[in-house]
Amino acid sequence: MIKLKKIKLGKTDENIPILGQGTWGIKSFRNKDYYEKWKESIRKGIELGITHIDTAEMYGRGTSELIVGQVISEYNRDDLFITTKLFPMHTRYNTMKKAAYNSLKRLGIKQIDLYLIHWPSPLISIKKQMRVLEDLVNEGKVRYIGVSNFSVEQFKEAQTYLKNTELVNNQLPASITRQKHIEQSLPFYQNEGIIMTAYSPLGHNGYHNLQGDLREKLEIVAKSHNATIQQIAIAWLINHENVITIPKASKIEHMIANAEAANIRLSDKEITLLYEDGRITENLKLISA
Ligand SMILES: NC(=O)c1ccc[n+]([C@@H]2O[C@H](COP(=O)([O-])OP(=O)(O)OC[C@H]3O[C@@H](n4cnc5c(N)ncnc54)[C@H](OP(=O)(O)O)[C@@H]3O)[C@@H](O)[C@H]2O)c1
Repeated sequence: MIKLKKIKLGKTDENIPILGQGTWGIKSFRNKDYYEKWKESIRKGIELGITHIDTAEMYGRGTSELIVGQVISEYNRDDLFITTKLFPMHTRYNTMKKAAYNSLKRLGIKQIDLYLIHWPSPLISIKKQMRVLEDLVNEGKVRYIGVSNFSVEQFKEAQTYLKNTELVNNQLPASITRQKHIEQSLPFYQNEGIIMTAYSPLGHNGYHNLQGDLREKLEIVAKSHNATIQQIAIAWLINHENVITIPKASKIEHMIANAEAANIRLSDKEITLLYEDGRITENLKLISA
């Protein structure tokens, strides 16, 4: 297994790969060949060091967790880092707990490495959600906890309800075409030493039809690194401090390209060029080349 560059998970002693594998898109009720193709690309990712796998109870109504579970059973559990997410439509304490146990069962593991609230819900208070997460940590079913799609204010509020654990992560939509959270939320997570996971780093569609000024700028940077525009889009994210990202690649060639992108170091000038307004936000920390 190749070793990929790692990053400290918040204030914990855990180091996780700078790149994880997204698994949204694994659908239910497909044939054997369909799942075998997915498994092949997940295996390839693991072999390339992309040992952090991101899934969710919601993806394919549990099918993504099942497929991930089947693949990871072939590896040493300690070499892997598994993130999954609680579907926020569960409103009662017991149903939330049961949902976590069902995720463990589908994944075939005893402990979830990182368990996230998938998104804030109008149906249930953040306080109640945090009580469930903290109790799951105390029971040993979950190692680390975090949230997804929470604003900075919601993140701060959630943290106040925790007695003996801390949130280590917020998973947010962030990419070269969706820069809001890089500019507005990341400075907070960098200051607090919390990891921000950039999801949909290739705009969900792989940027195959990206046009205009941004494509031209990406092509200029890509040429000087002998890379593709997708690799530069991924590198752009993880060349910011405290950022990891989780591209989804069901094709093996994409998985290989993504692993390579983890090693691309962009200069401050190149990173700045790719900001929407061509300027770096004050207080944002970059990993300098
Ligand atoms: N927390 C949340 O609410 C939330 C929401 C959305 C997503 N997520 C997570 O984030 C993950 C990634 O986001 P996403 O699935 O929306 O999409 P994405 O990673 O932005 O884009 C996926 C698309 O990019 C293509 N691709 C991947 N690597 C490529 C490369 N090197 N060159 C060219 N094309 C490439 C894929 O093609 P192939 O599949 O054909 O290889 C696929 O079409 C999800 O799978 C999920 O785990 C979380």
